Amino acid sequence: MGAGRGCALLLLLWGAARAAAAAAAAAPPLCNVSLEQEPRQRWLPALRHFDPAFLRAALARVIDETVPKWVHAAVRPVAEELEFFIPQPFAGEILGMCKALGISVGDGILINLAYEFSAFCTSIVAQDSKGNIYHGRNMDYAFGDILRKITIDVQFMQNGQVAYKGTTFIGYVGLWTGQSPHKFTISGDERDKGRWWENAIAAFLSRNVPVSWLVRDTLGKAADFQAAVLKLAATPIIADVYYIVAGTSPKEGVVITRNRRGPADIWPLEPTAGAWFRVETNYDHWTTPPPFDNRRTAAIKALNATGWENINFETLFQVLSVRPVLNNYTIYTTVMSAAVPDKYMSRIRTLE
Ligand SMILES: *[C@@H]1O[C@H](CO)[C@@H](O)[C@H](O)[C@H]1NC(C)=O
Ligand SMILES: *[C@@H]1O[C@H](CO)[C@@H](O)[C@H](O)[C@H]1NC(C)=O
Ligand SMILES: *[C@@H]1O[C@H](CO)[C@@H](O)[C@H](O)[C@H]1NC(C)=O
Repeated sequence: MGAGRGCALLLLLWGAARAAAAAAAAAPPLCNVSLEQEPRQRWLPALRHFDPAFLRAALARVIDETVPKWVHAAVRPVAEELEFFIPQPFAGEILGMCKALGISVGDGILINLAYEFSAFCTSIVAQDSKGNIYHGRNMDYAFGDILRKITIDVQFMQNGQVAYKGTTFIGYVGLWTGQSPHKFTISGDERDKGRWWENAIAAFLSRNVPVSWLVRDTLGKAADFQAAVLKLAATPIIADVYYIVAGTSPKEGVVITRNRRGPADIWPLEPTAGAWFRVETNYDHWTTPPPFDNRRTAAIKALNATGWENINFETLFQVLSVRPVLNNYTIYTTVMSAAVPDKYMSRIRTLE
C-alpha cells in the first residue's frame, strides 16, 4: 500500500472518530515521509490529504498574528538565497511544500520560524522501579483551533524501516517531539529569555539552526542516548530551549537547559538518590515557577502520587492530563519509550 493511501484511510478514521466523540482524545493522522525521496518531493503525499485552501488560510493567520512585520523584511533575502542560508534537507522540503501549496518561499520560512516561538509545554522523563524509561510531553500553543487540525504523526522511512518518528504540524519540517527507535526520544520546551525575534533572526542569519531542526537532525544521526545528549547540548541554535532526552537503559534521562551557543545546565535522573523523574515546563529547574503558572508542582504532585512502581504509558498520560498540566492551550500529548518504539502514542487534546 502506498504511503498516501495509508494516510488517507487514517484521516478518514480520524475524522469519524472525532465526530463520534468530540471530547475524547483522538490520535492524529499517521503519515509516511520517505527519506529516499528528494526533499522537494517527500512531503507531497502527506500534504495531499489536507485542503490547500484551508492550509494557506491557516498558515497566513499564524504568520500574521505571530511574526512582526520587520521580520518579513529580514527574511526576504533568505528566501532569495535559500540554499545559502538553509541546510538540506530543510531547504528542499520547505521549497517543495511552498510550491505544492502555492505560497511564497518567504512565507514557508516564516511559518517554520513562527512555530519556534512556542507557548507553554510540559515534558517529563521517568524511570520505573524496574529500570524502564518513559518520556511524555504536552505541546501547548496558541491557535489551538488551527493546530489541532494540522497535527500529524510522521514516520520518516528509509530502507522500508522507520528511521525515526515524530509529531508535528503539517508544513513544519522540524520536530519538537520525536523518537529514534531503540535508541532515544527527545522533546523540546520553550525557554523564553525575551527579545526572542531579535535574537533568533540574528542567529538565523549567521546560520545557527532552529531548535526543532536540531531535534530532527539528532534523531536521524545520533547513534545512541549519549551521542544525542552531546549533540543537543553543544550545537549552536537560534533560541534558548529545554531539551528533554530519554534513552533505553536505567538512568538515561536528562533535561538540558540550552543557551543559543551551548548548555547552561545538564540535569540527569538520579534514581538511586530518589530522583526517578524530572519535570521541565518553561522555567529553569533551579528557579521557582511564577504563581500564575505552576504546572511544575501539579505534575510533581501527580508523579509523587503515582510512584515509580506504577509509572507506565497509561499513568504518565494521566499525569499529563491533570489540570493545569493539561490546559486550554494543550494541542497534543505524546507518551513514548524508545525501548518499545511501537507504543509511541500521541493524542490531540480538547478540554470538554
Ligand atoms: C508506511 O510505510 C510502511 C512501509 O512501507 C508501510 O508498511 C505502512 O503501511 C505505511 N504507513 C502509512 C501510514 O502510509
Ligand atoms: C514529591 O516527593 C518528594 C520526595 O518524597 C518530596 O520531597 C517533594 O516535596 C514532593 N513534591 C510535591 C510537590 O509533592
Ligand atoms: C478554558 O476554557 C474554558 C472553556 O472555554 C473556559 O471556561 C475557561 O475559563 C478557560 N480557562 C482559562 C484558564 O483560560
